[in-house]
Amino acid sequence: MPLEDKFSRRQIDSYYESEARINIWEGSVRSGKTYISLWRFIKYVQNGPQGEYLIISRTYDTFKRNLLPTICEIVDANQKWFSGKRELHLFGKIVHVVGCSDERAESKIRGLTSSGAYVDEITIIPYSVWQMLISRCLMGGAKIFGTTNPDSPFHWLKKEFLENNPDVKSWQFTLDDNPELTNEEREYLKRQYKGIWYQRYIEGLWVQAEGAIYDSFDDRLHVLDYPLSRAEHYIVGVDYGTSNPCCFLLIGINRNKYPNVWVEDEYYYDSSKHQRQKTDAEYASDFKKFIEGKSVSAIYIDPSAVSFRLELQKQGVQGLIEAQNEVDDGIRLVSNMLNNGTFKICRNCSNLIKEIQSYVWDPKAQQRGVDKPLKQNDHACDALRYSLFSHFFNKNSNSRSAADIERDYREAMGLGGQLPAPFQETNYFYPA
Ligand SMILES: Nc1ncnc2c1ncn2[C@@H]1O[C@H](COP(=O)(O)OP(=O)(O)O)[C@@H](O)[C@H]1O
Ligand SMILES: [Mg+2]
Repeated sequence: MPLEDKFSRRQIDSYYESEARINIWEGSVRSGKTYISLWRFIKYVQNGPQGEYLIISRTYDTFKRNLLPTICEIVDANQKWFSGKRELHLFGKIVHVVGCSDERAESKIRGLTSSGAYVDEITIIPYSVWQMLISRCLMGGAKIFGTTNPDSPFHWLKKEFLENNPDVKSWQFTLDDNPELTNEEREYLKRQYKGIWYQRYIEGLWVQAEGAIYDSFDDRLHVLDYPLSRAEHYIVGVDYGTSNPCCFLLIGINRNKYPNVWVEDEYYYDSSKHQRQKTDAEYASDFKKFIEGKSVSAIYIDPSAVSFRLELQKQGVQGLIEAQNEVDDGIRLVSNMLNNGTFKICRNCSNLIKEIQSYVWDPKAQQRGVDKPLKQNDHACDALRYSLFSHFFNKNSNSRSAADIERDYREAMGLGGQLPAPFQETNYFYPA
C-alpha cells in the first residue's frame, strides 16, 4: 500500500525528516502527532543500537490509554509485552515505560544510558525529568522523539528547545494533518474550544494566557433564570475564608437533560463587608441551612480548610471530600463545559457571575511560562473549580491533556464518545 494512502503528507515528511537529536511534533489536538511519532520511534528502536529505550508519559495509565493501542497496531502481535515490569520488548530490545508523575522517574532515568526515548505531551512533564532525559540520551548519541500541544510562549519547551536550538527539529501539525479525522469530528473539536484554548488546541499557536480566563463567558449563553430540569443529585463546592470571603456553591447534575450541570444557589459571606468574622461553628450551621432538603452526593472542600472540615464533620455533615486543586486542569474543564454548552449558572448566583467575569490570568506567572489565575476575587471561582474538577476526575489527580479532559468528562457524564445530538450544537440558546 502506498504511504500516501495511510498517512498525510506532513506525517510522511516528518517521519523521514526526523533525524535530529531531538524531534518534536507540535500542534493542534488530534492532529496525528502521537500516531506518526510512534511509528517513527518504533522504527528507530528497530534499527537503532542495542541497549535500553524509554517511553515517558505522565502516568502509566496514560501510557496504556494513549500510546499502547497505537504501538500494538504498529508492531505485530507476537512482540512481547510485560506489563508487570512496565517494559515492552521490541525487536529484542527493552523499552522501559516510565510515568513521570512517579517520584522515582528521575532516579530511574538517571540510572540508564538510554539508546533513545519517546515522550508524549512534553509540556506537562516536569522540567527536571526532561533535563535528566536529555543528558542521559544525548551523551550516548541517542535520539529523542516527542509530541506536545502548544502552551504559553514563555514555556521552557518553547523558549529553550523550539526556538533556535540546533539540536531540535520540529513540525507543526493542524487538524488537517490527520487523515483519519472526519469532518464531523473536526467541527466538533472546533466547537469545544474558545479564546486562547482555540488558538492553542485548534490553531496550534503558542499564545499567552492574558486577560479574562473564562473569556467565552456570556450572560446570554450561560446564565439561566431558573434551572431547566430537576437535579438527579447535587454536589457542593466550598471555598473557605474568615478574613476573605467564604463561598458555597450548590450544583445540580442531570445526566440526561440539557444543560447537564448548573449552579443553582450560592452562599457568599464577605466578612470585610459585614465587618464581622464568623466562626467555623456559625459557618457550619449556615452550611447546613444551605443544603437543607437537597440530595447532596458529595461536598468538595478547599483542601486547606482543615478546621472547617472538622467542624462540619463534628456537626454530622456527610459526604465531605477534600477537593483536588489542579488549577489549570480545572480551568480547562470549566472552559470546555461553558463552551460545549453543558454547564450553566442561575441568575441568583450573582457573586459567582461577577467573579467569573473578573477572573483573570496572572501576567507575572505568564512571563515565567505558567498559566495561573491572579489571586483576587477568586473565591466562588475556586469553589466552582474544586467541585467540578474533583467530581469528574476524582480517581486521579495527575495533569491531563486537553484531549483527556474532554474524553473523561464525556465518559463521566455517560455521554459516550460523542455528545448526544441535543448537546452537539454549542450553546444553542445563542440569540441569532
Ligand atoms: N495516519 C493515520 N492513520 C490512522 N489513524 C490515524 C492516523 N493519524 C492519526 N490517527 C488517529 O487519529 C487519532 C488522533 O491522532 P493522535 O496522533 O492521537 O493526535 P495528537 O497526538 O495530535 O493529539 C488517533 O486515534 C490516531 O490513532
Ligand atoms: Mg497526542
